[in-house]
Amino acid sequence: MTSYSRITGTGSYLPPRRVTNADLAAELATRGIETSDEWIVERTGIRARHFAAPGAKTSDLGVHAARRALESAGKQATQVDLIIVATTTPDMVFPSTAAIVQHKLGIAGCPVFDVQAVCSGFIYALTVADAMIRTGTARCALVIGAEIFSRILDFNDRTTCVLFGDGAGAVVLEASTAPGLLASDLHADGKYLDILCVPGHVAGGQVTGSPLVRMDGQAVFKLAVRVLGECAHAVLAKAGREGDDIDWLIPHQANIRIMESTARKLKLPPEKLVVTVHEHGNTSAASVPLAMDTAVRAGQVKRGDTVLLEGVGGGFTWGAVLLDF
Ligand code: UT7
Repeated sequence: MTSYSRITGTGSYLPPRRVTNADLAAELATRGIETSDEWIVERTGIRARHFAAPGAKTSDLGVHAARRALESAGKQATQVDLIIVATTTPDMVFPSTAAIVQHKLGIAGCPVFDVQAVCSGFIYALTVADAMIRTGTARCALVIGAEIFSRILDFNDRTTCVLFGDGAGAVVLEASTAPGLLASDLHADGKYLDILCVPGHVAGGQVTGSPLVRMDGQAVFKLAVRVLGECAHAVLAKAGREGDDIDWLIPHQANIRIMESTARKLKLPPEKLVVTVHEHGNTSAASVPLAMDTAVRAGQVKRGDTVLLEGVGGGFTWGAVLLDF
């Protein structure tokens, strides 16, 4: 009987248009908004991000990442029996982006759905897929984080528009007799909904309220530092492991200062921290699988390594997954 799930392949995709801080600063200057490469690098660690072309869809990014993950796992799309897409920027109100990804992959029949936990979405989706595999509901899942966050950015608000980017990451998660995913720790507290949200909704054929990101950066920063430390320790305790056992920390890529603070709390040297925020910006639900695939393809994360994944974001939501790769 199957007892565990294990990641057997990873993939990711970045839209071709790379926008440096200097490019963005020049674009914002045309609107009379002042920012600089120095400010963005010093406060966040971000140097560039990728923005999707106007006609691109979140499902397109997800499909590219999914195909690469399937290829690295040596699987055909027809062998997939579950698709979960974590996204905050779905193609449509409905159906789910996962249904569109399924169709674009040329398959049909298996269960598919989206998970909405904003920047923690991939951690939530991976936990759900793991549970479905361990109960025998699925044997070969595609778990995808995909976002076109640039579509919900307010390019008149320099406190948010410099932070985010577009992209997608995916993993193939398969039933396994050996672990795999060791433990997961998920949380949310809706009382913090106002500090990071897109408050608008569709009603009567129109968007009511703002359809753009609003964030109290300092409040998010403080909360993120606290909860990422807490859930890292919680997931280690659940798995019966110590901080020393971690080979790689792959946290949500939002701000290098938050990431380094989490590494310090775990007494991890900086070399064990996977950093892609400088090149990707904050890609919300895509950030963790994008960073993971980047680290795998760079030869950093290797088979057998113990990896701590962490997410934090709107909701407020946060969580961690500990796994043996
Ligand atoms: O995925 C969800 C997770 N989200 C996050 O993790 C975001 C968490 N928060 C942060 O990363 C940081 O709070 C920010 C990067 C958003 C802001 O950094 P900060 O060190 O907290 O800066 P601040 O908000 O205290 O702003 C400092 C100054 C302000 O000017 P004054 O009031 O001191 O004159 C801002 O108006 O920096 C100004 N500022 C900017 N200046 C140039 C804010 N944005 C910019 C900008 N360029 N883009």
